[in-house]
Amino acid sequence: MSDDFDFDTRAVRAGTVRTGFNEHSEALFLTSSFVFASAAQAAARFSGEEPGFVYSRFGNPTVQIFEQRLASLEGAEDCLATASGMAAILAVCLATLKSGDHVICSANVFGATVQLFTNLERFGIETTFVRGANAAAWRSAVRPRTRLLFCETPSNPLMELVDLAALAALGRDSGALTVVDNCFCTPALQRPLEYGIDVVIHSATKYLDGQGRVLGGAVLGPRSFIRDALLPVLRTTGPSLSPFNAWVLLKGLETLALRLRAQSQTAARLAEWLEEQPAVERVYFTGLQSHPQWELARRQQAGAGAVVSFDLRPAAAEETLRARAWRLIDHTRLMSITANLGDTRTTITHPASTTHGRLTPEARARAGIGEGLIRVAVGLEAFEDLRRDLERALAA
Ligand SMILES: Cc1ncc(COP(=O)(O)O)c(C=O)c1O
Repeated sequence: MSDDFDFDTRAVRAGTVRTGFNEHSEALFLTSSFVFASAAQAAARFSGEEPGFVYSRFGNPTVQIFEQRLASLEGAEDCLATASGMAAILAVCLATLKSGDHVICSANVFGATVQLFTNLERFGIETTFVRGANAAAWRSAVRPRTRLLFCETPSNPLMELVDLAALAALGRDSGALTVVDNCFCTPALQRPLEYGIDVVIHSATKYLDGQGRVLGGAVLGPRSFIRDALLPVLRTTGPSLSPFNAWVLLKGLETLALRLRAQSQTAARLAEWLEEQPAVERVYFTGLQSHPQWELARRQQAGAGAVVSFDLRPAAAEETLRARAWRLIDHTRLMSITANLGDTRTTITHPASTTHGRLTPEARARAGIGEGLIRVAVGLEAFEDLRRDLERALAA
């Protein structure tokens, strides 16, 4: 679908291909393989001489509609879907790195991402973790064998930003592939490729689905990278997105911008309210003027997103910060205590003991995840109900 159409229009229509039945809603192709007219056609399809679907591990019409629609929204030449966000990150690593190579990653990223890069050491690939906001640290960490620069912006859960244009410039200067996890903003609020970033990855599990139903992921970037470097990896390693999940995600994309607009507005009101609460030491939200990178957020994001994190003040009494944070979480009644985010239902999490609980204490400290930190991923409930829920929990 042409880029002349607005984002909202492409979100409901881009990539659509109809079968001979002319269905209006996208068809769900629950099939593992595709039938050939002859042995010769099978051979031509397998070799790639003739275009067409072969086997759903590496191509399926429903998955392809999702890939094309997301590519249109991110402004990417091409896209391949994966079974999860982690599968997308791993696939990029497998397509890019070999023993002896070096990666630079912002320290404040999702816990499993830190672990994934740390585990690459077993394969002779070293990762340097830097403060995402510190451009000089990125630059001085570059080595001759640096092949990959990876970040989340805003980061999970501390909303640290990376200057996308500066990262893209460093990628060009160093010859390393720049990869951004665009999970928190989604293309509705931020399009890293427009800043010169090479590749975007998604955990589609979050806002792209938006209703907490399925796992999914995606890698987006130049056609040469997606088809020549990534597809051979996905074809042989198998972290494919199921057609059913792709169909669910397509429904999610249709309301992506609407949901993010509404959820971001409620999140902004909650962030402002939280900043005034005496028990709260600090609020992390890129829409607040107190955010140290507020100007950068305004430049590269069309909105702040819907995740608000905050640090509790230490108590005067004996109680540990962890106990205080858990007590607050346990006294909410409306919010769901769950590690997912991007759902229509608000979720509340204690990152230090859940999403970032498997990190070493040093890695957690490096990422800035304290014991009093709480992450709220704001859903579609009414602001006043959410505010009252937190008010009750803070009072407790
Ligand atoms: C920022 C970010 N990236 C990647 C992932 C991993 O995604 P998935 O759970 O789909 O593998 C998550 C999951 O929470 C995340 O928050």
